[in-house]
Amino acid sequence: MTTSHSPTTAVPPEEPTAPAGVSASEMEANDQAATAPAPRGRRTGDVVLSLEHVSLSFGGVKALTDISFDVREHEIRAIIGPNGAGKSSMLNVINGVYAPQKGRIVFRGRPFTKMHPHQVARMGVGRTFQNLALFKGMSVLDNLMTGRNLKMHSGILAQMIRIGPAEHEEIAHREVVERIIDFLEIQAYRKTPVGRLPYGLQKRVDLGRALATEPSLLLLDEPMAGMNVEEKQDMSRFILDVNDEFGTTIVLIEHDMGVVMDISDRVVVLDYGRKIGDGPPDEVRSNPEVISAYLGVGH
Ligand SMILES: Nc1ncnc2c1ncn2[C@@H]1O[C@H](COP(=O)(O)OP(=O)(O)O)[C@@H](O)[C@H]1O
Ligand SMILES: [Mg+2]
Repeated sequence: MTTSHSPTTAVPPEEPTAPAGVSASEMEANDQAATAPAPRGRRTGDVVLSLEHVSLSFGGVKALTDISFDVREHEIRAIIGPNGAGKSSMLNVINGVYAPQKGRIVFRGRPFTKMHPHQVARMGVGRTFQNLALFKGMSVLDNLMTGRNLKMHSGILAQMIRIGPAEHEEIAHREVVERIIDFLEIQAYRKTPVGRLPYGLQKRVDLGRALATEPSLLLLDEPMAGMNVEEKQDMSRFILDVNDEFGTTIVLIEHDMGVVMDISDRVVVLDYGRKIGDGPPDEVRSNPEVISAYLGVGH
């Protein structure tokens, strides 16, 4: 099942294939043979998102320094790195929360440096946050409906279903949300205030809220932080299912290296705002610089 991504190698000339050959580290000694690294056998396509020499600083703090990075259609792209490495800042630059001082972002052929988060969302970029962005007093259903605000009056669904405006639009939005509720297996909690749910389920609802915007690119900021093993397995499966069933391209910040190895196609490694590794999971984890900066610490 591990058909490598070689069909797409024509795409990104700027992708520096990290110092290969310097592997043979103890870390990869114990598992799979050195065959093609792509863990899922997904077929990824053209580059849909790229960061080109992006730098972002807050006063004297350099959150990102000269970061170039790309994401291909249908890919699950992981971002790893120690706390404070600039991972969340990277997502914030992509979805318009911060404007980089240098460089630019190109999404589906459209370059920008400064764009309002709503505009980015309208282009099809969905997002979950490291700290949940849910309305705790509101029900699961209502929280997911907030994800539809963006789509109100967009009319695409209404046109498809051939119904009139206003209240009928509401029904159409509810149908989308109900489908997401079924998909995420949270039917039993539809009417429950989000704040009363266990943390793992709240994270799932946050994923649902992002899915309700029907993104073509989904940015997930530590969707499994604070979860136990079983919750992580569930979340990993949902992420894979979103990718498979909706065809959504996913950028994922995650600390659990097991999860990253299992579900991602390519991994970028940040350290102090700089990119120190970029490639398939197996390659990245045998990169000595990555091991000493990150993997060696607590993993
Ligand atoms: N809004 C902000 N104002 C000032 N400094 C910030 C802000 N956001 C992030 N930083 C700083 O930028 C660096 C990178 O942060 P962040 O992107 O949150 O890292 P990560 O998500 O990898 O933990 C850190 O030093 C952090 O303190
Ligand atoms: Mg962060």
